[in-house]
Amino acid sequence: MQFSTFQQDLNTWQGTTLIFGIVEEDLKNQLEKINSIIDTNSLLDKINKKRFKGEKGKVLNFDFFDKKLQTLKIIGLGETKNINSNDIKNSLADIIRKSSDKDEKISILLPWELINSQEEIKSFGEAARLSTYKDNRFNSKRDDKQMLNEIEFLNLNKYENLSFKDTEYICEGVELARRLVAAPPNSLTPLEMSLQASQIAKDHDLEIKILDKDECEDLGMGAYLAVAKGSDLEPKFIHLTLKSKSPIKEKIALVGKGLTFDSGGYNLKVGASQIEMMKYDMGGSAAVLGAAKALGAIKPDGLEIHFIVAACENMINGSAVHPGDVIKASNGKTIEINNTDAEGRLTLADALTYASNLKPDSIIDLATLTGAIVVALGNDVAGFWSNDNDLANDLKNASADAGEELWQMPLQKSYKEGLKSHIADMKNTGPRAGGSITAALFLEEFFHEDIKWAHIDIAGTCWTDKNKGINPSGATGFGVKTLVQWIKNK
Ligand code: BES
Ligand code: MG
Ligand code: ZN
Repeated sequence: MQFSTFQQDLNTWQGTTLIFGIVEEDLKNQLEKINSIIDTNSLLDKINKKRFKGEKGKVLNFDFFDKKLQTLKIIGLGETKNINSNDIKNSLADIIRKSSDKDEKISILLPWELINSQEEIKSFGEAARLSTYKDNRFNSKRDDKQMLNEIEFLNLNKYENLSFKDTEYICEGVELARRLVAAPPNSLTPLEMSLQASQIAKDHDLEIKILDKDECEDLGMGAYLAVAKGSDLEPKFIHLTLKSKSPIKEKIALVGKGLTFDSGGYNLKVGASQIEMMKYDMGGSAAVLGAAKALGAIKPDGLEIHFIVAACENMINGSAVHPGDVIKASNGKTIEINNTDAEGRLTLADALTYASNLKPDSIIDLATLTGAIVVALGNDVAGFWSNDNDLANDLKNASADAGEELWQMPLQKSYKEGLKSHIADMKNTGPRAGGSITAALFLEEFFHEDIKWAHIDIAGTCWTDKNKGINPSGATGFGVKTLVQWIKNK
């Protein structure tokens, strides 16, 4: 899908579908803007008959059969003083998602003078594109009726030189993450994940290293390999590096949980634990690879960025890890595995140690780590933890800009008690209460304390059944936009 702008007089405009936003103010005057396309006097009559004043969230639909303009959708933006770009973004996304199977091009005209920045307009484009995402890879009929291939912004005036290049790259990153998350576990295996990473490296000129099981063993990654032991599929440890040509001012590592399937292991997922959904347990690594794709295209200056995924499956066989096993991670710490279903943190233990050894200034990890975060924050908000206030604030700002919701959770030191083991340095699982917090505290044991670190638990946000706003039902690609925005803000 491409983005375009049209800056000329509207009487030379060619289009069939127009979304026109109006505020609650002198309707007649606002309609003047489109009087070269349509008879605004009769339109005003019709609008008045429907008692529409421009109220926020209200939409009027007009179909014309004898004119060039076939469909006009008027959306209410509410009072000028309360105009809010997040609301606009969501109503645009809702409307466009529903009509993207009918139109090849959708044009948008809003009161641009009330929009404060180029970034907001770009986010409208991003929302429009992401809301129409469709995935037909696993359907033999492949009939998804996706028609829309152009989003056109009309008469942007002072924003006329807007470039949507980065927006396109970000959307491609989010779409890759969605494809990875939605792919079933017999398709997206650890090997396939490593091939996808190689493709990113090839397309955007990143360095890539893929460590096989023996190489991980040589590095002493006993925690990661304990998880992988019960699977017939080989684990793949993925490390991509994106280095700016300009002098490096900052080094960053992005680490993602990459369980291509999580059965729970011998602590098998039973009852309502949704074992059949556990293909999405690589949502963190999907966000990291999606960000790698976007940033590989954007090529930010002065940064060295590492993308790290310890990919494997958590399965059961005769050599699978037993509940009660004691293993050793690559930083030398021993762990009693009192629950094989708390496997994500074990893979992250070695991935974080590996990241830490690269001596980055900061590490951000993303993981579908705990059911507890879903109970705490639901499906619209991800929880995050950080050992550094500046990093926490930067992340909050980035997520607000990106339109992904994050809520900071405490690294409650007193809960470390819950991870005490009688036999090893620690257990991998604490008590049920505060389960997402003890998970974060566990991760904190595996990198150098001078490194700024944040952990984002996306167990609730990486998938949606709601078909709302910019997210059609299914994988959301959550995290890509925040990561890219955080880097762009540097
Ligand atoms: N992958 C799950 C977490 C999860 C749960 C993600 C629900 C998405 C939706 C993780 O590996 C897990 O099983 N965590 C356990 C930890 C527990 C054993 C301490 C959990 O949350 O139940
Ligand atoms: Mg698990
Ligand atoms: Zn898991």
